[in-house]
Amino acid sequence: MGVLTVRVAIIFGSRHGTTEAAACNLQKRLQEHVEIISVDHLETADLKRFDLVILGASIYMGHIQAAMKEFIERHLKVLLSKQVGLYLCCMLEGEMADKQFEQEYPQTLRDHALVTGVFGGEIHKEKLDEFDRLIIDIVEGESALSSGLLDEEIRVFADVINLWSQKEGGAIENV
Ligand SMILES: Cc1cc2nc3c(=O)[nH]c(=O)nc-3n(C[C@H](O)[C@H](O)[C@H](O)COP(=O)(O)O)c2cc1C
Repeated sequence: MGVLTVRVAIIFGSRHGTTEAAACNLQKRLQEHVEIISVDHLETADLKRFDLVILGASIYMGHIQAAMKEFIERHLKVLLSKQVGLYLCCMLEGEMADKQFEQEYPQTLRDHALVTGVFGGEIHKEKLDEFDRLIIDIVEGESALSSGLLDEEIRVFADVINLWSQKEGGAIENV
């Protein structure tokens, strides 16, 4: 079997590091060459270099990072010409998490995506500013809010990409 030549970018938006940690977790599971890039440092990202672009964002008060939204708007045409993966980090689960996912990533991109995932979330109270901590204290009450990163969801997401790239890598090698 030849060496895979598929190139993958994970572009993430994160306020306190969880979405970046999810990107690193994902990178470890992927067999491809993967670059992790913050959406805030996008001048370094030339999307043309990548065969597959994974976007990861986290939710605050129902919304993903404005920088990620702007990035998607600006690069939608290029993104639709590539394979795409989309993931979300958030504390809500199940249908409520899915709803946030649908509201925040545009339908054209969701329909086009090779793989999508909700990876759970983490709340590190020591990292929050006063306002965010107040909100979390009010919402939290007695129960612990965050599920932590959902390893199994990340594994399944990675498996889909590895399967795709086994086929695609062969195709690229034969060009
Ligand atoms: C102030 C605040 C508001 C949040 N709002 C939401 C929300 O509306 N929905 C949700 O599912 N998670 C919400 N979360 C949870 C975050 O999405 C979660 O902590 C995520 O892991 C943060 O990732 P990041 O550190 O990469 O930014 C909120 C967290 C904080 C601190």
